[in-house]
Amino acid sequence: MSIIFLLIFFLFLQSSSSSLPPEPEPQPPNAPTVCIVGAGIGGSSVSHFLRTYSPNPIPNFNIRIFERNRFVGGRMATVNVTGHTFEAGASILHPKNFHALSYTKLLNLTVNDPSSSSSSIGIWDGKKFVFKTLSFNCKLPFVQKLVSLFNSVRIFFRYGFSILRMESFVENTVGRFLKYYESLESRPIFETVDSMLQWAGLYNLTTSTLESELADAGLSSLLIQELVTVITRINYGQSVSMSGLAGAVSLAGSGGGLWSIKGGNWQMAAGLINRSDVALNLHEEIESISFLGEHYELNSTLGHSYICEVAVVATPLDELNIQFIPPVSIPKRKLQHTHTTFVRGLLNPVYFGLNVASKIPELVGTIENPDIPFSSISVLKQHSETDKTYKVFSRQPMDDALLDRIFSVRSETIRINWGAYPHYSAPEVFAPFILDGRQLYYVNAFENAASTMETSAVAAENIARLILSRFFGQVPLSQAKSTYGSDGEGLHADL
Ligand SMILES: Cc1cc2nc3c(=O)[nH]c(=O)nc-3n(C[C@H](O)[C@H](O)[C@H](O)COP(=O)(O)OP(=O)(O)OC[C@H]3O[C@@H](n4cnc5c(N)ncnc54)[C@H](O)[C@@H]3O)c2cc1C
Ligand SMILES: *[C@@H]1O[C@H](CO)[C@@H](O)[C@H](O)[C@H]1NC(C)=O
Ligand SMILES: *[C@@H]1O[C@H](CO)[C@@H](O)[C@H](O)[C@H]1NC(C)=O
Ligand SMILES: *[C@@H]1O[C@H](CO)[C@@H](O)[C@H](O)[C@H]1NC(C)=O
Ligand SMILES: *[C@@H]1O[C@H](CO)[C@@H](O)[C@H](O)[C@H]1NC(C)=O
Ligand SMILES: *[C@@H]1O[C@H](CO)[C@@H](O)[C@H](O)[C@H]1NC(C)=O
Repeated sequence: MSIIFLLIFFLFLQSSSSSLPPEPEPQPPNAPTVCIVGAGIGGSSVSHFLRTYSPNPIPNFNIRIFERNRFVGGRMATVNVTGHTFEAGASILHPKNFHALSYTKLLNLTVNDPSSSSSSIGIWDGKKFVFKTLSFNCKLPFVQKLVSLFNSVRIFFRYGFSILRMESFVENTVGRFLKYYESLESRPIFETVDSMLQWAGLYNLTTSTLESELADAGLSSLLIQELVTVITRINYGQSVSMSGLAGAVSLAGSGGGLWSIKGGNWQMAAGLINRSDVALNLHEEIESISFLGEHYELNSTLGHSYICEVAVVATPLDELNIQFIPPVSIPKRKLQHTHTTFVRGLLNPVYFGLNVASKIPELVGTIENPDIPFSSISVLKQHSETDKTYKVFSRQPMDDALLDRIFSVRSETIRINWGAYPHYSAPEVFAPFILDGRQLYYVNAFENAASTMETSAVAAENIARLILSRFFGQVPLSQAKSTYGSDGEGLHADL
């Protein structure tokens, strides 16, 4: 029953500084080039796994990554609010995100200390809090235990045995996902997202809504309409009518043991690119990818052309106008936009029908009600009793008039409009991993299953294996170096 207590870990305090990888070592002039569009966790993971799985020194190849921003990381990015740094996009990792764990170790990154004090959570229905946990900041472990026990009892009292059924639904799904960490010998290379999901027993979850999957699992409608809805609205800005697999992943992101990287999760991408002997073209946007018979020509908005034997798209194509020649066809998909608003100030108790701000829970979650103008509001940092930094998620932008009703004090406001993740709709239809049947690959086809840093890494690993087998004809992958190195074997043992 730890699920709710760690909800607050969605929003982590970060500090960071940006840095660029050094120049790559030159490859032999005739070596083929793998071009990757996008320097998020997906593109950086493709470069990492290409290097890790290829037997050195053959095959010899160049890797070039294009990134339209001046920095790497994509949807892993930090924001600076009055001199304090916070995660602006992807903020939390699950304890079983094994690629992210291995990156952290490989790159010698530091994990943030878990927040020790218990955080209060309230579910707002537009008029009142239908549910609230107790918050009690006390350093005494015994008192903390009592508070947490009290909250467990409250949750159990409201939702009954459904809460246990929810946990076993999530555990079951996470368990199936762990198949993607099985050894290379026993794990096929997948040519389609459908076959990849079917192999792990996850495909069916993409064919129906989360709501119906949870109802089949025996959850009460109260739990689905309240707590589950709060979680899907926080994690994906969507309702329980989203598809089941992404919904289950979202629920998994509300459990215990969640973590993040000190200084910002984007350092995973930066570190992987730094170690993978990559030519990184920052601030260069690719506008066309043409197949010219033996290779691809990538043109950028800077007017440059690049010849690549293999091309990898590591960004969602839904809102991009990259021109493909010949054209490629992918199913239509809409992105869910999440407006992330950072506010330094103080919430207005009157808006919540309360007399003092201190009675407002540290995480305000919401149910589906079109009259509620936000999905969640949470405290990122408490500077003093009356001065805090908050993160607001909403489906529509938060204008000043609205913010002035919700906040009584507002000294700084920062707004980010993310094309955040797919708008999930069951049954999902998946784009191909291999866009043209040749050497043009699409990592983010997997995002219709679920969108997380780890699922991007898992999809990227499969794309790297596809390239090594389909282009380089590398057969015995089992002889390749393990990603996890010698002491990583323990990782596999407990799967
Ligand atoms: C608000 C928010 C909260 C989230 N919370 C979490 C969370 O807590 N945990 C979690 O695991 N995940 C979370 N996610 C999801 C997670 O961020 C993504 O699934 C993941 O980062 C996707 O990585 P990617 O590399 O596939 O794509 P991206 O990170 O989007 O990378 C694509 C890159 O390609 C670049 N690019 C695009 N077009 C071009 C072009 N034409 N030429 C050159 N470069 C181009 C982009 O600038 C970008 O840097 C969250 C996302 C958002 C928006
Ligand atoms: C890149 O890696 C080298 C060691 O391989 C390290 O010294 C350097 O600090 C790294 N740079 C960044 C930006 O991480
Ligand atoms: C954040 O902003 C403050 C004040 O503008 C500045 O001093 C600080 O260097 C910034 N920090 C980062 C990490 O950008
Ligand atoms: C890893 O980081 C820690 C602190 O950040 C540092 O003390 C240690 O020397 C680093 N180890 C390596 C191998 O770089
Ligand atoms: C998925 O659904 C099909 C058809 O309903 C069924 O035959 C199959 O056993 C299901 N697979 C899993 C893993 O649940
Ligand atoms: C890409 O650039 C080359 C060289 O400038 C040009 O010949 C070609 O037509 C361009 N391709 C596209 C699709 O614009």
